[in-house]
Amino acid sequence: MSTVIKGGTVVTADLSYEADVRIEGGRIAEIGQNLKGDEVLDASGCYVMPGGIDPHTHLEMPFMGTYSADDFDSGTRAALAGGTTMVVDFALPSPGQGLLDALQMWDNKSTRAHCDYSFHMAVTWWSEQVFNEMKEVVDRGITTFKHFMAYKGALMVNDDELFASFQRCAELGAIPLVHAENGDVVAELSAKLLAAGNNGPEAHAYSRPPQVEGEATNRAIMIADMAGVPLYVVHVSCEESHEAIRRARQAGKRVWGEPLIQHLTLDESEYAHPDWDHAARRVMSPPFRNKAHQDSLWAGLAAGSLSCVATDHCAFTTDQKRYGVGDFTKIPNGTGGLEDRLPMLWTQGVGTGRLTPQEFVAVTSTNIAKILNIYPRKGAILVGADADIVVLDPTREKVISAKTQQSAIDYNVFEGMTVKGLPRFVLSRGKVSVTEGAMSSEEGHGQFVARPPAGAVNKALSSWKELTAPRKVERTGIPASGV
Ligand code: URP
Ligand code: ZN
Ligand code: ZN
Ligand code: ZN
Repeated sequence: MSTVIKGGTVVTADLSYEADVRIEGGRIAEIGQNLKGDEVLDASGCYVMPGGIDPHTHLEMPFMGTYSADDFDSGTRAALAGGTTMVVDFALPSPGQGLLDALQMWDNKSTRAHCDYSFHMAVTWWSEQVFNEMKEVVDRGITTFKHFMAYKGALMVNDDELFASFQRCAELGAIPLVHAENGDVVAELSAKLLAAGNNGPEAHAYSRPPQVEGEATNRAIMIADMAGVPLYVVHVSCEESHEAIRRARQAGKRVWGEPLIQHLTLDESEYAHPDWDHAARRVMSPPFRNKAHQDSLWAGLAAGSLSCVATDHCAFTTDQKRYGVGDFTKIPNGTGGLEDRLPMLWTQGVGTGRLTPQEFVAVTSTNIAKILNIYPRKGAILVGADADIVVLDPTREKVISAKTQQSAIDYNVFEGMTVKGLPRFVLSRGKVSVTEGAMSSEEGHGQFVARPPAGAVNKALSSWKELTAPRKVERTGIPASGV
């Protein structure tokens, strides 16, 4: 059984050309002209692109006294509906819990996935057990470790723990990730705001100004540099953080920054909305920023100083958000976006001329596939690659509405926005999973993608670190010690 995607324009991170794509056994078997197959998908007028990879999701995650509402079933359906064919979710041990124990929990949940997935492992506390288990985690194909510099008293780790974990990552050929916000300052500002009676969702944004993000990003970059390891900064929301990343990259440091589609397209005025629910539904960390910060993020994508667009999909229902009525620090942090990432980025990026179609593919798929060391199995339209493909029709449009979404929550932060550029077909390892909005995906079809450690950047960095390591000076004349 073979499938041919016919008459479209193949768009990859570096090329754009007209060709048919033949798929067999879940992989791309042939790319060329006039290809034949048992099943033909008409891609005329469409772009045939690598399916999106969302490197940052939280599905069914225990967090702030509840669980995020989308699980691996609804979450991966939402992903596919919007053209995303792989998600990387965070296995999150509670402080004191072993990494392998947490991994078992995520293995159990993910059996429902409709598309392929992988995991990052979070380091939420530090001990000899964590140090030891990191090796086993890497052996199981999980080569990225996330560190929270915020959420004091819960998930936050301190600088000594960061440095220890980053050095361990360097030894194992793994990549550390950071949620970069100064958790000590956030805690102080939150207490001060609450004491002054400032308890609404807008205070969440006041408690996390861009400086807390800029400071933490710079600190993490310097700690990673001293540990001799690359660094991936998640949810970069502001110029202060972007500036630190830009400066580091210019100095030759291996640092990647990940803005979210929410920060690119929604701004801080959302928190001033008179309706409590409206504002609380948009509470996430870091919070939405002003237009100047958004311009900085868009510029970073065009200039290459920012590498990947993610969602940080961590969806909570309105009822869950209401845990924080009267105390903004209790509003579960997180927003959705899995279904909307590609259409929103195409509309507001390619549609406005801020991004080329090739840059769109790079920041939604290819760059992260390279960083995660799974390119070209993922993130490519090449013979032998997994047939994770989105056939994007640039003329199809819709108005985003919670009424028609796959996500399990009762609202959408992009509600009412028009997107132009939607999938005609989405294929997950060759399986047609979406046709013009109609789902034909299958629960359990998604497979875990194991990732090899020690990618090229890790290797280069450890060679350099070894070459420049401190060396004792062997001396001939050693004076006698003083009397
Ligand atoms: O507010 C957010 N971002 N919630 C999800 C957890 C995290 O910090 O990434
Ligand atoms: Zn985070
Ligand atoms: Zn997150
Ligand atoms: Zn299902």
